[in-house]
Amino acid sequence: MAYRERVNKRLEQKEKRYETEQLLKKKRSEEYQVLEEVFDKSTLMTIYGLLNKGVIDEIHGVVKAGKEARIYWGTDREGKELAIKIYLTIASEFKKGKLRYIRGDPRFTHIRRETRSIVFAWALKEFKNLKLALKAKVKVPKPFVVKKNVLVMQFIGKNGIPAPNLKELPPKNPERIYNELLAFVRRLYQKSKLIHGDISEYNIMVWRGRPVLFDMAQGVLLSHPMATTFLKRDLQNLHRYFKKQGVKVLSTDEAYRKVVEDVKT
Ligand SMILES: Nc1ncnc2c1ncn2[C@@H]1O[C@H](COP(=O)(O)OP(=O)(O)O)[C@@H](O)[C@H]1O
Ligand SMILES: [Mg+2]
Repeated sequence: MAYRERVNKRLEQKEKRYETEQLLKKKRSEEYQVLEEVFDKSTLMTIYGLLNKGVIDEIHGVVKAGKEARIYWGTDREGKELAIKIYLTIASEFKKGKLRYIRGDPRFTHIRRETRSIVFAWALKEFKNLKLALKAKVKVPKPFVVKKNVLVMQFIGKNGIPAPNLKELPPKNPERIYNELLAFVRRLYQKSKLIHGDISEYNIMVWRGRPVLFDMAQGVLLSHPMATTFLKRDLQNLHRYFKKQGVKVLSTDEAYRKVVEDVKT
């Protein structure tokens, strides 16, 4: 029986490999070759799985390559634009040479898997936080699917060009953007019990005159011991940025009270 199981498993793996190879033949564009150079086998299998399933139809190119994640522009079968955030499963410090000393050492076979499971949890956390934000009617990229270290979400922008963030392009209507952002922070807090935790001009885009919050993996629930500290820091960052833009900002204490106070109607 064990033998038959093993044979079946091998056949299954063979079949999977065959499907992937077929897919690769179809999609042998330059972009896919580049993907193969950047990502490890397991990440490639995850990406190809999403292509096979039709969650993603095409991956066109990279939007941003950061230290922890790369964002790709893609489309689904209907041509709807997607942002595909792929977390790197090996921390960059590891890549810089240390890996050579770890790989192949039987004492450390668990290390990679450990790092990877942390990264998977991180991607799943971002997915869940985005969902929570949507529930609170906070404008964020709609999350579609998360699989291991790959998160597929709504693309904010058009034709592969992401909407500018506040750092790249200060808004023409800073007063309104500021007020909307405070309302976002309040709704996140009140309705979803969530703190973004990394609000800054880098993690807010402006699209069609409205702010969009994103990059939410580090978001925490109110029950987190650092929740208040993170919330105050978020508010401080908003305060600093919008003050510079000439907005009559609330003091951080006032803003904090506004966010947390229970308004009874
Ligand atoms: N949903 C999205 N739509 C369009 N562009 C996006 C989207 N998500 C991220 N980006 C682009 O990728 C950049 C980095 O994304 P972010 O989630 O902040 O990753 P990091 O964790 O590396 O900071 C953003 O500044 C933006 O330009
Ligand atoms: Mg970011």
